[in-house]
Amino acid sequence: MAKMWAGRTAGKTEKLADDFNSSLRFDRKMYKQDITGSMAHAAMLAKQGIIEQQEADTLIKGLAGILNDIEEGKLAFDESCEDIHMFVEQELTTRLGAVGKKLHTARSRNDQVALDLRMYLRDEMKEIIQKIIALIEVLADKADKYDKCILPGYTHLQRAQPIVFSHHLLAYAMMLLRDKSRYEDALARMNVSPIGSCALAGTTYPIDRRFEAEQLGFADIARNSIDGVSDRDFCLDFMSACSVLMMHLSRFSEELILWSSWEFRFVELSDAYTTGSSIMPQKKNSDMAELIRGKTGRVYGDLMALLTTMKGLPLAYNKDMQEDKESVFDAAETVRMCLDVMTPMIDTMTVRADRMRKAAEEGFINATDLADYLVKKGMPFRDAYRVSGSIVAECIKTGAVLETLPLEVYRGYSDLFTGDLYDAIDLSACVAKRTSEGGPSVKSVRDQIAYVREQLKK
Ligand code: ARG
Repeated sequence: MAKMWAGRTAGKTEKLADDFNSSLRFDRKMYKQDITGSMAHAAMLAKQGIIEQQEADTLIKGLAGILNDIEEGKLAFDESCEDIHMFVEQELTTRLGAVGKKLHTARSRNDQVALDLRMYLRDEMKEIIQKIIALIEVLADKADKYDKCILPGYTHLQRAQPIVFSHHLLAYAMMLLRDKSRYEDALARMNVSPIGSCALAGTTYPIDRRFEAEQLGFADIARNSIDGVSDRDFCLDFMSACSVLMMHLSRFSEELILWSSWEFRFVELSDAYTTGSSIMPQKKNSDMAELIRGKTGRVYGDLMALLTTMKGLPLAYNKDMQEDKESVFDAAETVRMCLDVMTPMIDTMTVRADRMRKAAEEGFINATDLADYLVKKGMPFRDAYRVSGSIVAECIKTGAVLETLPLEVYRGYSDLFTGDLYDAIDLSACVAKRTSEGGPSVKSVRDQIAYVREQLKK
């Protein structure tokens, strides 16, 4: 078949060049957005008297038929088409004859593709936001259960101070709330219609861009037609949000992998989300978590690819920009898959409160509380810090722990120590006393859960 753009040239290209040029293999994903966009375009053309109402009705009906046939698997994509836009237009013209050729009046594929991709991403982001919410809900439910489950909080991956498991999980809930808002920000910013920018310089037809934008649920129109067709910031916003989200999922995955190790055994991931080894019978591998961690690099790559593609492009449209879609689709699909696995993996994991408690008891994580005890008895903090450090050093040498070290030993370091010191360094008391807002005390953790749930209602 002759190329739709045959005219200036005979439209004869090498098969190799056609294949290289074609984006149909991936942009077919946007068939629905392309067709919906075209329906609004036909309606606008008729409203403005650019085509007859009857012609618009025919076009819209024809487009609906194509949509229906694609969805029912009755219409195969013609691989010889350059892209989804050409395919739909070609199919429409095959079905309707001459009137089909009127659809592309006052439009270019440059504004059409920008429109389709925005609409596609709008839908994707709404779905991703729902998936983030589902994960946050699981975290809040788990946090509900483990507000008294003490474990060491770590810095430098060294046991540092006592926290409760809820507190740790809620840290991830806070990150995910920010992720949700990052997508919401991007969504609001991208909800601007480029259609009517045409190739780059608008059009001489009396179009109504705002009508078309409104039909398609956009809040505004791109105010500059050159920007309308050149802008891919919305893709970059999307992939930036994806990258930060993946970084969070990756850190969480790293902890799950660590916690699942025999050295920690803080959690046991359900059999449904782990695998075995083909050779070592004892193994239970955290493959899903490792893959989430691994796929994070891939999503960063998607972002970097498009940033790099865009950096040298003169205004307005350049074919380089066709490369946007594979990055964006890959990032979207990867994020969706990772969230889909992460949520039930967290939901079904077994929490080993006993192991967490044991680690908390062995790590001198109440050494700060021991120093604070002396401070409350009148010793300056720096001195108290040194005394407590010396006691810890002695414990390490003798294999003792602070909780059971005899009072005489303590008094050898300072006569400020009396019997009440044991209450002060009791792990549960250490957590309970950390009542500062945002801390691990039961009340604080409860407040955090309430805050998270409140945010989800918004
Ligand atoms: N397939 C193209 C893309 O994805 C559509 C726009 C093509 N425009 C053009 N003037 N060649 O970017």
